[in-house]
Amino acid sequence: MSGFNEVYRRSIDEPEAFWGEAALGIDWDVPPATVHAQGRWFPDGRLNTCHNALDRHVAQGRGEQAALIHDSPVTGVVRVFTYAELLEQVARTAGMLRGLGVTAGDTVVIYMPMVPEAVVAMLACARLGAVHSVVFGGFAAGELAVRIDHARPKVVLSASCGIEPTRVVAYKPLLDDALEQAAHRPAHCVVLQRPQCAAELTPGRDLDWAAAVRAAEPAGCVSVAATDPLYILYTSGTTGSPKGVVRDNGGHAVALHWSMSHVYGAAPGEVYWAASDVGWVVGHSYIVYAPLLAGCTTVLYEGKPVGTPDPGAFWRVVAEHGVRTLFTAPTAIRAIKKEDPSGNFAKKWDLSGLRYLFLAGERLDPDTYHWASDLLGVPVIDHWWQTETGWPIAANCVGIEALPLKPGSPTRPVPGWDVHVLDADGRDCPPGTEGAVTVRLPLPPGSLPTLYRDDERFTRSYLDRYPGHYLTGDGGHLDEDGYLYVMGRIDDVINVAGHRLSTGSMEEVIASHPDVAECAVIGVADELKGQLPMGFVVLKAGAERDRDEMERELTALVRERIGPVAAFRRAVVVSRLPKTRSGKILRATMRDIADGRPYATPSTIEDPAALPEIVRAVKGT
Ligand code: COA
Ligand code: AMP
Repeated sequence: MSGFNEVYRRSIDEPEAFWGEAALGIDWDVPPATVHAQGRWFPDGRLNTCHNALDRHVAQGRGEQAALIHDSPVTGVVRVFTYAELLEQVARTAGMLRGLGVTAGDTVVIYMPMVPEAVVAMLACARLGAVHSVVFGGFAAGELAVRIDHARPKVVLSASCGIEPTRVVAYKPLLDDALEQAAHRPAHCVVLQRPQCAAELTPGRDLDWAAAVRAAEPAGCVSVAATDPLYILYTSGTTGSPKGVVRDNGGHAVALHWSMSHVYGAAPGEVYWAASDVGWVVGHSYIVYAPLLAGCTTVLYEGKPVGTPDPGAFWRVVAEHGVRTLFTAPTAIRAIKKEDPSGNFAKKWDLSGLRYLFLAGERLDPDTYHWASDLLGVPVIDHWWQTETGWPIAANCVGIEALPLKPGSPTRPVPGWDVHVLDADGRDCPPGTEGAVTVRLPLPPGSLPTLYRDDERFTRSYLDRYPGHYLTGDGGHLDEDGYLYVMGRIDDVINVAGHRLSTGSMEEVIASHPDVAECAVIGVADELKGQLPMGFVVLKAGAERDRDEMERELTALVRERIGPVAAFRRAVVVSRLPKTRSGKILRATMRDIADGRPYATPSTIEDPAALPEIVRAVKGT
């Protein structure tokens, strides 16, 4: 195989030849004659993603190979599905959906914990050409309602409960509450009854999953256009309303299939484990679609890195299932390191089959990098991407050529991604100088073609700032060897334990409190979770409130409206927010303070005394 530089150059100089070749890795009903036109990939090709993930492997003799391993320490269950078994489940579930009137182009919301049926549901939608939208279980009813109203699903698929280490989370009451709040009415909800908690079903609307699937006839694959949507995944933007990232079928299948061998160095038949959640993009791409498109065995882990039952949980799964590639977020490794700093739990397991540890979701701090490398003795590979891109923008592509690692950098842009770091005037920054990380258009296959039902927001959010470039929202720099360093968001999106959250949506909730005059939420550096949200609140004139009581009320409000995943626990009352004379909150300065960076008092500040108060609040003094 050619070296990295050569492969990369070709992907940028001859994208159509490059991706046209990669498309040969996918089965097409109608092979694309055109590789790229007007921002869309493979516009005249037709295929089915589920066929590529399941049917073709069974047809090629992988029927008896494990496709999916559900390892659930929170329920004490391990279940293995072969490719043939998974196909059978998916075909029946697709039949059930078809029976409920779901056809190609209809949307289906999936609000489920980490159970095999969640994967089955996604693939069943893909089989019919229906568009799924998975909502993460840690969001509150209100957030689910917003997504239901935007996606307008014909059917909602859910379960009676999710299981967190300390509690059973009843999903059905959350779903019922969401449907009360939403204006849109799905025709049906299909609910998986788990033994840990029984859900009450609403007659006429709700169906029992097991019975409905049992009664269904298997459905075949529906051929769709490569440009038809496969899924919508809502992600946090800078405002309270989430963005519906759209993924197409053809570009997605080609890019993800290509990434498995070239980025991750994974071969068919190998066990690949992304320890994330199906509610996030990592779960969509690297628990469900990519490993199955590539004929690997994927692991669906229903547990945590620590506490289920101990910090050896990940190493047990690696050893017991023969995991060759492990992918998780740095926060998970930090959680393990905190409880088992000398790595004694890892030493109890045979980890000799593990070849790579890939990390993404947030910046990989050098301490965590060194600790994991020393412990595991395998390459620890930081790679950078986002919900919008669907697969890595920068990585060490071990399947092409392993490059020397530089701690603190996710290595170089991946083939297909023409990364430029731009200054405020749109000029390329010289090596070592920080700027906005952008990607020159066209984006490669697999990345978002638009935002669901909001082309205008897509253009405004990503394309308007630097014409001809996609704005990632991250800041960083390139070094003289072309290695990228991603330093953090330049907008009001924060990253809590690898989960992307909008400070804007938390501000909306806090501002709704009757005693709050105004507020600002920023991400404050946290040793374990990377960042934690912190609210700064100015009370209304005359509101005499106890500060601790105020904090309790606001944290409860954010938990109730956005969900436990926000991990919002700190709200401090301040006398004023730092603002410019024209009334703009000085968020960038607040972010510098929160991250412990040196900050300058802007000349435009209205009242310089506002900043020391923020510093004291962040330090907790
Ligand atoms: N359903 C319901 N509640 C959920 C949930 C779900 N699917 N997932 C998380 N929550 C709840 C948790 O129970 C917790 O609630 P609490 O405030 O009552 O304790 C809250 O949301 C925050 O969850 P989490 O961010 O997972 O924090 P944690 O303290 O429970 O665990 C880590 C910390 C680091 C162990 C955990 O965040 C982790 O494993 N992260 C891995 C990163 C990851 O998966 N990233 C995805 C992108 S790669
Ligand atoms: P999400 O869309 O939830 O996957 O979040 C994407 C954001 O997480 C990116 O825009 C970055 O801010 C951050 N991120 C993801 N991976 C990395 C990484 N390897 N290094 C630094 N930041 C990262």
